[in-house]
Amino acid sequence: MKFGIIGFGKIARKFVASINATSGQVVAVGSYSLSAKDSYLQNNPAVRLYRNYDELLDDPEIQAVYIALPHAMHREWIIKALTRKIPVLCEKPAVLSGADMAEVLDEARKNDTYFLEALKTIFNEGTQKLVEDLPLIGKLEKIEANFCFDATFMKGSNSYLFDQVQGGALNDVGPYLIGFANALNKQPVVSVDSTCSKDGKIVTYFNSTVTYANGVVAILEGAIDQTKDRYALVTGEKGTIMIPMFNRITHYQINLDDKSVISRDFTINGDDMTMEIQALIDDVTQGKTQSGVYGFEAHQENAKLLEQINDSFDR
Ligand SMILES: NC(=O)c1ccc[n+]([C@@H]2O[C@H](COP(=O)([O-])OP(=O)(O)OC[C@H]3O[C@@H](n4cnc5c(N)ncnc54)[C@H](OP(=O)(O)O)[C@@H]3O)[C@@H](O)[C@H]2O)c1
Repeated sequence: MKFGIIGFGKIARKFVASINATSGQVVAVGSYSLSAKDSYLQNNPAVRLYRNYDELLDDPEIQAVYIALPHAMHREWIIKALTRKIPVLCEKPAVLSGADMAEVLDEARKNDTYFLEALKTIFNEGTQKLVEDLPLIGKLEKIEANFCFDATFMKGSNSYLFDQVQGGALNDVGPYLIGFANALNKQPVVSVDSTCSKDGKIVTYFNSTVTYANGVVAILEGAIDQTKDRYALVTGEKGTIMIPMFNRITHYQINLDDKSVISRDFTINGDDMTMEIQALIDDVTQGKTQSGVYGFEAHQENAKLLEQINDSFDR
C-alpha cells in the first residue's frame, strides 16, 4: 500500500522506518519545512516532496495517508483526506473533543473510507494477550497506569507540548492511558475526579480516578514535567498483573493469590508502530472501513473520556 505523509516532524521520521517492516511503502511527503537535501529524501529519491498538503492529497498514486501534524491540526486534514476517500492513519490524539471525533467518524462513514487513530498500544500483541488473560485474575477491580516523562527542556520551544491551546500532559500521554484502561474494561464511565498541576493553562501533571459502571476504578497518572517508572498494575479478585512499559508490552507477570506466577513474553515485530500500520494495510485491503481491533465505537469512547478528564481539571 502506497502512503503519503502529511507533516514531516519527529514522529514521521520514525514512521518511515516503522513502515519498512510492513507491506506498505512511502511514496510522497507533504512538508513545508523539509529540506530537499534532507538525508531521507536523498536516500529515497523516488519519494515525491509536496510543499502543500492539499497537493499531496491530490496525488493519484496515494492509497493511504499518515497524518503527523500537531494535535490541533489533525481534524482539518483527516476530514480533507476522508472527503477524497483516502484511508487515514492519524497520530494521537486524533482530535481533542468527543464532538470532533463524532464529526470525523461521520465523515468516514459518509465516504465509506477507513479511519484509524494511531493508538499503537492497542495493536501490540501483548495488549491483545493481556485482554485474553484478564479472566485469570477473576473479577476486575482496579487498573492503575502511569505515563510520566520530563519534557520541560522543550518549554520555550514552539513544541505543541507547551502550546496554550493543544498542549499539556493529557493530550499527549492521555490517549495511551485512556486507550489502555478502556481496552481492558469496555464499560460506560460514571464519574471522573482529578488532581492536576498547571503551568499557565497547561496541565503538566494529572492523576485521574475514573469509575466505570461495573465498579472498576482506573487510576491514570500522566505528566510532561517529571519522569516515573512506567507501568500498569491490574488488580482482580484473585490476583494482580504487573505490566512494565504497558504502552509497548514485551513482558508481564500474573501473580495469583494462590501464589502461582505466570510470565508472558512478547517480541515486537519491527517496532511499536509497525503493527498499527500493518493493521491498516490488511483492513483496507480486505475492504474494511474500520479496525476490528480498535473500531469506531472505541474511538468515540476514548475521545469522550479524554474530554471528561479535561473537564474534571477545572472542578
Ligand atoms: N505515536 C507516537 O509514538 C507519537 C510520538 C510522538 C508524537 N506523536 C504525535 O504525533 C503528532 C506530531 O508530533 P511530532 O512530535 O512529530 O511533532 P513535530 O516534530 O513538532 O512535527 C510536527 C510537524 O507538523 C508540521 N506543522 C505544520 N504546521 C505546524 C505548526 N503550526 N507548528 C508546528 N508544526 C507544524 C510540521 O511539518 P512540515 O514542516 O514537515 O510541514 C512539523 O514538522 C502529535 O499529535 C503527537 O501527539 C505520536
